[in-house]
Amino acid sequence: MTQDEMKHAVAQEALKFVVKDTIIGVGTGSTANFFIDALATMKNDIKGAVASSIATAERLEGHGIKVFNLNEIEAISVYIDGADESDADLNLIKGGGGALTREKIVAAVADKFVCIADESKLVKVMGDFPLPVEVIPMAANYVKHQITRRIGGTPFVRENFVTDNGNLILDVEGLKITDPKAMETELDSIVGVVTNGLFANRSANVLLLGTPTGVTVIGA
Ligand code: A5P
Repeated sequence: MTQDEMKHAVAQEALKFVVKDTIIGVGTGSTANFFIDALATMKNDIKGAVASSIATAERLEGHGIKVFNLNEIEAISVYIDGADESDADLNLIKGGGGALTREKIVAAVADKFVCIADESKLVKVMGDFPLPVEVIPMAANYVKHQITRRIGGTPFVRENFVTDNGNLILDVEGLKITDPKAMETELDSIVGVVTNGLFANRSANVLLLGTPTGVTVIGA
């Protein structure tokens, strides 16, 4: 099975977690795109979706799925999204596509977070994937220095990239994330940080992992 076939398989499996007659949250990235395309087959079973990025909103609307503004709704039954890395406790690194802040907001509102990924994303200790941190542009240098001093690793400004919120991304290389909750909280305490790509204080509830022999369900 290719990586894309594994992503397709987890996207199909995720349909089982869609709660009928509710509004669901939809993530961003190549795996989430497979899910959006699969969701189109049952679009009449849901009220609609909240999107975690402009790109996702456009893809959902392209399929005729109603996209809600988060401020006009009361609840999200389930949030379905990919990840860049997951550890065995379903702590995640997200934000490879730069949508981490909206993703974290939608995940916070959702009753359940179902992560979909191919098996390459499951790691023992997170950090090989550079950790994305969204920053207010004027604070980029300050935040870089604070990260180096307080967290470790080497932050780089993502080149030629502006988030949907008009901010910059720092990608922090060289981390070994042994205490993801503490690191997430510490990063958020740096002035100028909008959010960071660790999803540990709100981790996934379920991980659907694509493997060559099928989908492994972790945490259901
Ligand atoms: C987007 O900002 C990310 O959080 C994605 O969820 C993550 O990068 C996974 O993307 P892929 O599904 O493309 O690997």
